Amino acid sequence: MRVAIVGGTGAFGRALAKRLHEIGDDEVLVGSRDAERAQATAEELGVMGGRNEEVVAGADLVVLAVKSDATLATASELIEAIGKTPVLCVASDLRFTPEGVRPGRHQGSLAEEVLRIVRGPVASGLQSFAAANLVEGDPGDALICGGDDRAKELSLELAGRVAERAIDVGPLESSRALEGMTAVILNVNKRYKGHAGIRLTGLP
Ligand SMILES: NC(=O)c1ccc[n+]([C@@H]2O[C@H](COP(=O)([O-])OP(=O)(O)OC[C@H]3O[C@@H](n4cnc5c(N)ncnc54)[C@H](OP(=O)(O)O)[C@@H]3O)[C@@H](O)[C@H]2O)c1
Repeated sequence: MRVAIVGGTGAFGRALAKRLHEIGDDEVLVGSRDAERAQATAEELGVMGGRNEEVVAGADLVVLAVKSDATLATASELIEAIGKTPVLCVASDLRFTPEGVRPGRHQGSLAEEVLRIVRGPVASGLQSFAAANLVEGDPGDALICGGDDRAKELSLELAGRVAERAIDVGPLESSRALEGMTAVILNVNKRYKGHAGIRLTGLP
């Protein structure tokens, strides 16, 4: 599939693009707000690149991988360019406090808000993938949720390439747990100085 990674110059976008390029099943494009930055990253990774609004044109799946607090503004800016193309949101709403990382909200999720902004369907997932583990090829299970079959299928297909298992964890509201779990993982990483991922047990 043709995968456009919006914010593809960042830690997560670069790691995902690198792995997908190594695996070789997809056409990968990295996007940026800045054409030169996109081009430099694309050349380094051996993929294609361009401004965010350019790379999403003609994509089968748009991975929204900008810095989390820029997710909603970016979705709004790209409404026309994304059109009805399915979006995979990997963001988590977090609050960084002296006591540790906390979930950023008491209700809802960033992914549900993205769905209210864009015209097409939205899935959410991959929050538990540390960019470092993704590059190493062992990010743990890929947890994907969403209310639209097509967006979820494409996201599961993509996730299944880079993870041992891609697991459907239910409707888009499950993103509240996935995003909240990022706070747990970051606190664990800080406490134990690691790059934790997630593996579910008890599945066939
Ligand atoms: N890092 C991880 O290990 C990891 C793991 C799982 C999920 N995630 C999620 O993946 C997403 C990206 O994380 P990251 O660590 O890659 O973040 P990042 O490196 O801080 O930022 C990613 C990209 O976002 C773009 N950006 C920054 N500020 C922006 C703004 N105000 N408006 C529009 N674009 C902006 C930048 O691209 P340009 O300046 O080139 O436009 C930047 O390269 C986040 O939602 C994060 O929660 C990250």
